[in-house]
This record gives sequence, C-alpha cells and structure tokens, in this order.
Amino acid sequence: MPFPYELPPFCLERWQSERETSAKILLSESGVEPVSLDELERMGAKIDLSSVDLGYGWTRGDPKLRKAIADYYGGLTEDHVLVTTGSAEANLLAVSSIVSPGDIVVVDMPNYMQVHGLLQARRAEIYEAWRSPKNNWHMPIDEILSLLRKVKPRAIFITNPNNPTGAVESDSLKAIAEEAEKYHTIIVVDEVYRGLEHSSERAPSIIDLARKYNIIGVSTSGLSKVYGLPGLRIGWIASNVKGVVEKAWSVKDYTTISPARLSEAVAVSVLEPSVRVKLEERAKRIVRDNLEVLRGVVEEYPGVIEPWWPEAGAFILVKTPWTRDTWELAQGIYMERGVLVNPGECFDLPGTLRIGLGHADRDYSRMAFTEMMKAIIEYRSGKKI
Ligand SMILES: Cc1ncc(COP(=O)(O)O)c(C=O)c1O
Repeated sequence: MPFPYELPPFCLERWQSERETSAKILLSESGVEPVSLDELERMGAKIDLSSVDLGYGWTRGDPKLRKAIADYYGGLTEDHVLVTTGSAEANLLAVSSIVSPGDIVVVDMPNYMQVHGLLQARRAEIYEAWRSPKNNWHMPIDEILSLLRKVKPRAIFITNPNNPTGAVESDSLKAIAEEAEKYHTIIVVDEVYRGLEHSSERAPSIIDLARKYNIIGVSTSGLSKVYGLPGLRIGWIASNVKGVVEKAWSVKDYTTISPARLSEAVAVSVLEPSVRVKLEERAKRIVRDNLEVLRGVVEEYPGVIEPWWPEAGAFILVKTPWTRDTWELAQGIYMERGVLVNPGECFDLPGTLRIGLGHADRDYSRMAFTEMMKAIIEYRSGKKI
C-alpha cells in the first residue's frame, strides 16, 4: 500500500476550499484566470468532443496526448510519460513510487507543501533546505550540495519555478544535477509553473539536465496554472527513465485508473505548439499587467505590505512588516471584507501573504488590490501592533 500512515492536514488547500466559493475578492489562486472552450477555439484549438468515446481509454493516458507531452519536453517518447489527474496526482504517484519508509530525502522549502505532507506520511527521513529572502528566495545551493554529500539522499524534491516565492532556478539546478550523479540521487521537480517566467528565460527542465548528467530526472507538471485549465485536471509525470514512469503507473492502478477522456481530448489540442504558445503568452501578459497594477497600488499605500517581486508564477509573496500573525490577518480580512489571500503560515512562513496575480481584467485587479489594501489597513488599525 502506498500510504499506510496518516497524512498531515494540507493547510493551503483546506484554507482555500473552505473560503474560495464565498469570497467576494478572490486573490488566493496561483494560476491565471481559466479559459473556456470557446476561447481555446478562438486561439486555434481544434476541439471536437461530440465524437469522443467515453470509455476508460488508456490507463497510462491517450497515446496522442502522451506523444504531445513527450514532444513538449523534446527527446522523450510516449513511454516516458504518464498522464495523471492534475499535477497533484503526479506528485502523489512520484512520492509513493520513488520513496519507501525510512528513505532519506531532501526537500526544497518553502513549497506548495503537498510533497512535504506526502513525504511525512510516507515516513521518509526529511532534510529541509530552506530558501531565504536574503538570497532573493533562491535555493541555498552550498547547503544543498553539502547535504547531498553528507546524507546521499534517495531523492531531492524541488519546485521550479518555486511556489510561493516565484524564484526561478537555473545554474543551481545544474550544480545539483552534477552532484546527484555521484550518489544516484533522483531529482524530482514540480515544474507546473514552467513557462510563466516574467523576465528570465524559461526555467530549465530537469528532463534536459537528467540526460546531460546521466541521472534519473522526474518532472511533474500539468495544464492548471500557466495554461489556465485547472478544471481539466490534466497533469503528468515525465522521466528520462521509463522504469520510473512504469512504477508510477502501477500506483495509479490504485488511485484514478485512467484520466478523463473528455479532458484528454481537449489537452491534445491545447498542447498543439501554436495554441500552447498563445496560452503561455496570455499568461505572461496577464501577470505582467497585474504586477504593474500592484506596483501602483503598493506605492499608494506605503508600509502596508513589502513585496518580493517574483521571477515567475501567477502569485506574489509579500511581507507584512507590522505583524507576524498573518493567519489572523488573512482570516480577519476574509471575515470582514470577503478578501481572500493565503496566509504565509500555510508555507511555514508567518509574517507573509501570498497574493494571486491571475485575473485577466486589469480593472478588476486594480479594484481587488485596492480593496485588499483597505481591508488590511482597517484590520491593522483595529489591532494592537
Ligand atoms: C507547485 C504545485 N504543484 C501542484 C499543484 C496542483 O495543481 P494541479 O493538480 O491543479 O495541477 C499546485 C497547485 O497550486 C502547485 O502550486
């Protein structure tokens, strides 16, 4: 059985699930505003759902979709890819097929916290490698390299681009790959925000590095964030080593059996390069606009939040210099004003908030950021600081 032990509560997911449907101002999402089938068709996607056979299909995923995902990475075949129900299932399958109880693992922190929770439940011996604002939230590369030498982990789990910090790793990932080769450490990278870099180049995929350094690389990803398609629930695991994908498939027999056929049919057309690129451009445009709008609003209300301007993703991590209790703050502005942001406590980062940058309408964003600021100021003035 993959999970004989208890899972810790998943703070971020539960925080959002309990509030997002009733929030008046939704700033808790980490992806860009979802697109409709109509919009996809206007972007050139050829979608014909009426003829889709609603059987189970291929439990590993439709070969056409696996081929499209393999082509997205380049140099892989469909046997290097397993289609999953969102990147969330990809992460679950990666942890449960790669890590056994007692295995030593290194985890890039902070992160979305799904993998961390799964590793805890798996009873892995976890070494956390914490990023810090002193280093613009980049990975502590020297610490990670010496950890690799010291504990020779079975695997290292990285999120690149990182959620919640928005930092993008490039050279440090190469250095880790080079060191991992010596200890046969598997590198698993959650790449769900790859393709939504704001100014830097596209983050390198672990698949390319794995081939170069002769290591096992595993990429988990999906269509939810950059492509604005979370409702499809299409994700995947890709690896340069087919055996890794086969093992993950054997766990998937126990979880969801096969992906949803309708979603797969849409996903194939979305991964058509011309459509994919349009969606990536859309995502970048949305976030660029929102960053500009937020800069203006932050200047209008000085001293309320201090942003760490991100390099990627559709969210921003900000500091609240006047309080560390951001759980109470986030709960306060939600209860009083219906403004939903994520408290840093869900990332083990009290004193911070993660704010969504995914709304497609600039005017809505300006209104939402302004209302958020007003709500925070109101909360602050009613509180002893
Ligand atoms: C880093 C990361 N991985 C995975 C997921 C899960 O995404 P999905 O299952 O919708 O693809 C999220 C969602 O926020 C995330 O931030």
